[in-house]
Amino acid sequence: MHIVSLALGGCLRAEPVPYGITEDTGGHITYILGEMAALAAHSSVSRAEIVTRRFDDPALGAVHNTPCEILGPKCVITRIHSGNSRYLAKDELFGDRAAFTKALIAELRSRERLPALIHAHFADAADVAAQVERALGIPYVYTAHSLGLDKRTATGSECPTLSARIAEEDRAIAGASAVIGSSRDECERQLLGYPSARADRIHRILPGTAPARGGDDLVGRARDLIAPFLRDPDKPVILAIARPVAKKNLRTLVEAFGRSKDLRESANLVILAGQRESADCGEAEQVAVVTELLAEIDRHDLYGSVAYPRTHDCDHVSGLYCLAAQSRGVFVNPALIEPFGLTVIEAASHGLPVVATRIGGPLDTVSELEHGLLVDPRDSGAIGKAIATLLNDRTLWQRCSDNGREGSRAFSWNGYAEHFVRLASRVIAPHAPVATGYTTRGTGIGPGAASLFVSDMDNTLTGCADGVAQLHRFLRDRPDFGFAIATGRSLVEARRVHREWDLPDPAAWITSVGSEIYWETSDGLLRDPAFPALASARWDADRVEAVMDALPGIVPQPAYEQRQYKRSYFYIDIAQVAAARRALEQAGLPVRVIPSHGRFLDVLPVSAGKAAAMMHVAETLRIARSRIFAAGDSGNDEDMLAACDNAIIVSNHSSEIAGLILRPNVYLARGSHAAGVVEGLRAYGDIAHGDDARTDIRKRA
Ligand code: GLC
Ligand code: MG
Repeated sequence: MHIVSLALGGCLRAEPVPYGITEDTGGHITYILGEMAALAAHSSVSRAEIVTRRFDDPALGAVHNTPCEILGPKCVITRIHSGNSRYLAKDELFGDRAAFTKALIAELRSRERLPALIHAHFADAADVAAQVERALGIPYVYTAHSLGLDKRTATGSECPTLSARIAEEDRAIAGASAVIGSSRDECERQLLGYPSARADRIHRILPGTAPARGGDDLVGRARDLIAPFLRDPDKPVILAIARPVAKKNLRTLVEAFGRSKDLRESANLVILAGQRESADCGEAEQVAVVTELLAEIDRHDLYGSVAYPRTHDCDHVSGLYCLAAQSRGVFVNPALIEPFGLTVIEAASHGLPVVATRIGGPLDTVSELEHGLLVDPRDSGAIGKAIATLLNDRTLWQRCSDNGREGSRAFSWNGYAEHFVRLASRVIAPHAPVATGYTTRGTGIGPGAASLFVSDMDNTLTGCADGVAQLHRFLRDRPDFGFAIATGRSLVEARRVHREWDLPDPAAWITSVGSEIYWETSDGLLRDPAFPALASARWDADRVEAVMDALPGIVPQPAYEQRQYKRSYFYIDIAQVAAARRALEQAGLPVRVIPSHGRFLDVLPVSAGKAAAMMHVAETLRIARSRIFAAGDSGNDEDMLAACDNAIIVSNHSSEIAGLILRPNVYLARGSHAAGVVEGLRAYGDIAHGDDARTDIRKRA
């Protein structure tokens, strides 16, 4: 397939420009270049083509005036001339859009073969892509990178330009065949705030980061860059790298540093905020931000302990991450709002712990990687305290450093390309006959399937690719088996893991621990209309929260894990689970309390849960109870496994469900993961039904 990445603004070229050359050379440039290089290397991609504006501005590089720049064997930048040769800043692009679109459509028309898909970056490119789709029938997917709706909330600004931008973003979301986001916060909160957003069209794909670079040379150059500013350059480095714009909130970081005697004595602050000729040169916002920084440094007499180099290159950036990690320092991202926060992952890959804003993407990156602390970006005291905690607690520092290095490996452009291609194939051929014949699409699900196989996903189906292949074969050979996934994860996350492991397509998705059900239909995913009413009886989320908040040692999971009919927490000690049960019961709240993996604690309406959802799916499909098969591995599968006549527990199960193993309705597999599941399905199939058969199965297990 031939994929086009379309972006109108910024300076797109082979050599990325460090932040600050123009006002809009943000993270999206790194994203597009990383994305397209990896896609070009993918065997299913015939051509990865970046399309952008052509302009003539020698100061920004002569290459922007060349129609075609080859980046690699299948990778190229095509620059479209709109008729206007000037470089246009973000707010000037609108006037040029119609001409650009016309030129792009003409260029595509002149080609022998059209691209299969356009990936539009930002809403203005999505508008162009929508017009291309109308003219030539090429579908588009959309990545927002940063959303106006959240900017409005975070900055409280209300202006006509912002409102127009939000409206344009909504149109982009409405018209896109798929919307791709990077973080859970973006996919499960920010995007859903738009009227046209549909949960089933939003997909999370983790972006890549450049592999961490290091070495004495880079570190030495970084040291040379900052040493002239510092009295004692060997102190731990508190590092911030961000464009010089107000929402990055660098002033508050200087204030946090300036106000803390402890930090001033024990560390240096290094701020890399774009490039400038001098403090009073450049875009108005940059001048304002730099002036403010200098004033703050002055106010707290920070000379000799703050470095703020005027210029830098890409090697300096890598070198500073390394230097800061070697000095056992901390990276800080104090942005008022951070749509994704690539720097938080770059720091992780260098083993540098972070203190990051809890508004936006870092909320889930830091929660998932556990490589630092989250803070309220408006609270300079909290920022200072979090930095000090990491600098002073060596065990915590080391754990965060190790976690960051390990966890950041998931952010690879090759992994991204794999996900993108799987998603793109579905977008390009949505109505192709479903190769996996057992998938029941549309509303005529009922008659086909005589049996229903409901499976947990994490560690039950995932964990071994060979087992997954066995499951594909099993379901292909047994079209009488309907298949449903039942997971603790949210829909977006379930679909990401499903794509990652290339699992069989389910007819139904039971998500968020059996508090939501979605059906695959010919019109896309449909949330089960009847289940919420059944599942939510006497559910009072506010009172559940009030009771749980009062319990010591119980900490809420991040906001995006809190769903309409699910409240989720972390616990440390199993005694806390019993305490929670007691407290909720005393409060007269009829709920289900589900511990799993020794740390998660979910509270659901008493009539929700995986078992209830499984039964609801079976009833909808008119499948007899005796023909339901369920597989699982951990605490949140317990009710489902207990309620199922033909339950399968994989050998790699967690100890929470050990109590189920001896039950007559349970088959304990010798195999682990999906291979164990298939073993169980076959074992049930091999022998006649009835109690004798089940005893047989048990003996074999
Ligand atoms: C998934 C969910 C989490 C839940 C856990 C256990 O990880 O994302 O919220 O607590 O499953 O059910
Ligand atoms: Mg599991």
